[in-house]
Amino acid sequence: MIRVALAGETDWAGWRQATRALVLAGIDAAGIVWQVGGPADALPGLAADAGFTVPRALLALAGQAIQARDPSRFDLLFRLIASAHAAGAPDPAALAAAQALARAVRADTHRLRTQLRFLPLPDGRLLSWYAPAHFVLAANAALIAARAPGRALSIATPDLTVHADADGLRCGPGIDAPADDAALVGWWRAQGSAALAVATPCPAPPPAETLEEMARPPDRPALAAVVLPPRADPALAAAAAEAGACMRCPIAALGTSAVFGEGPSDARLMLIGEQPGDQEDVIGRPFVGPAGQMLDRALEEAGLDRRLLYVTNAVKHFKFVARGGRRIHQSPEAGEIEACRFWLEQELTRLDPRVLVLLGGSAGRAMLGRPVSVGRERGRPFALGGRMALLTVHPSFLLRLPDAAAQAREYAAMVADLALAGRLAATA
Ligand code: URA
Repeated sequence: MIRVALAGETDWAGWRQATRALVLAGIDAAGIVWQVGGPADALPGLAADAGFTVPRALLALAGQAIQARDPSRFDLLFRLIASAHAAGAPDPAALAAAQALARAVRADTHRLRTQLRFLPLPDGRLLSWYAPAHFVLAANAALIAARAPGRALSIATPDLTVHADADGLRCGPGIDAPADDAALVGWWRAQGSAALAVATPCPAPPPAETLEEMARPPDRPALAAVVLPPRADPALAAAAAEAGACMRCPIAALGTSAVFGEGPSDARLMLIGEQPGDQEDVIGRPFVGPAGQMLDRALEEAGLDRRLLYVTNAVKHFKFVARGGRRIHQSPEAGEIEACRFWLEQELTRLDPRVLVLLGGSAGRAMLGRPVSVGRERGRPFALGGRMALLTVHPSFLLRLPDAAAQAREYAAMVADLALAGRLAATA
C-alpha cells in the first residue's frame, strides 16, 4: 500500500505528480491510499525519459472534478487517468462519475462567482464569508481578487480562508459561519491579524474554469455589501429531510434527491419554478444549472438580490429519462404536481411570502390548480390566497428559443415581470 499525502483539498500539482509517478510505475489503484495531510510514502522514482501523455480534455475534466466535496475523488480520478493511459480510452464508468462531479463543481463555481459579496472594512480591506458546496474557492480566488484591483480582500469559508493583497494569495484555516455581518467584522477585529500571520502561500490550485462571466449592468458595482447566506428554518429543514423519502408520486422511484427551496425565512418574495434539473439534483439546491444562471442574471437586472428571496420548485424531485448516458428532463404531470403541493404548502405556510412569482406553466398549475397559458396570462399581478402572484416565463423557455431576437425580447419581458414583482413585494 502506498500512502499519498496531498497538501490540501485541491492540491492539483501534488495529485498530478503522484498520479504520473504511480501510473508509470504500474501501481494499481487498489494499492494507493489518498489523503489530505498526514504522513506519506515515497513515490516511485521516474526514469528521465518517462513519457506520459493524457488527453488535454481529460486533464481539464480532472481539474474540475478534483474540487468536488467527495472523499473518493482522488482515487476516481487516478482510475480515470490510469485507464486512459493503459487502454487509450478512459473507463466509461469512471468517466461518467468524473463528469457528474465536474458538473456539480461548475454549478457551484457559478454560484461562488455570482453570489459572493464583500463588506468594506475601515482600513479598506474587503471581507466576505461564504460556504461553497464544493472546494471551489482555491481555483477561483485569483479571478475574484482581480475584480477588485489594488484592494486587499479576505474570503473566509468553513474550509479555508484566502487573503489577497500585495503579498499575493495566501491561505489559512477556515472559520465557522458568523451569525451576521457584525459577527464577521467582530471576528476580523479580534482575529484578523492572527489570521494573516498564519497564512501561507496557497498550494497551486487547479485551473479556473472559463465559465462565461455573468454580464453585469455597467452601473452596478461588481463588489457590493455582504449579505450572509440565510440560515435554514429548522421546520423546513426537517420537511426537506422528510421529502427525501417521499413516495407520494412515481418520480421518487427514479432515485433522485429531494431539492427543497432556499432563502431567508422572512423573504417577502417567493419564486416557484418547475422542478430541479440534472445539476440541481447533483448539488441539492434549486436553480443552480443553466436555467438558474439565466434566472440569476435576470434577477440582477431587475434589481433583485437573490439571497433575499426564497427560491423553490413546484416539484421537489428531478423527473428524467436516461438516454445515451444523459438524464433528459421530463415535465411533471398534473398528478405529480398535485402530489408535491404537500411540500410546497409547507414552504408557503412557514414563510408566508407577500408575493409569489410563478415561473412557467408547472408553477402556474401548482398554484392555480388548472392549466395556464403563460403567453396570455403572464405579467399581470393577481390576488391569490391573501397574497399577490404573478406568472412569467420559465428561464428554460428562454434557453430553448432558437432565435436571438425572440430570446432578447422574452428576456426583457421576464426582467420587467421580476422588477414588477419586486416593487409589489416592497409595498405589500
Ligand atoms: N428548473 C426549475 O424549474 N427549477 C430548478 O431548480 C432548475 C431548473
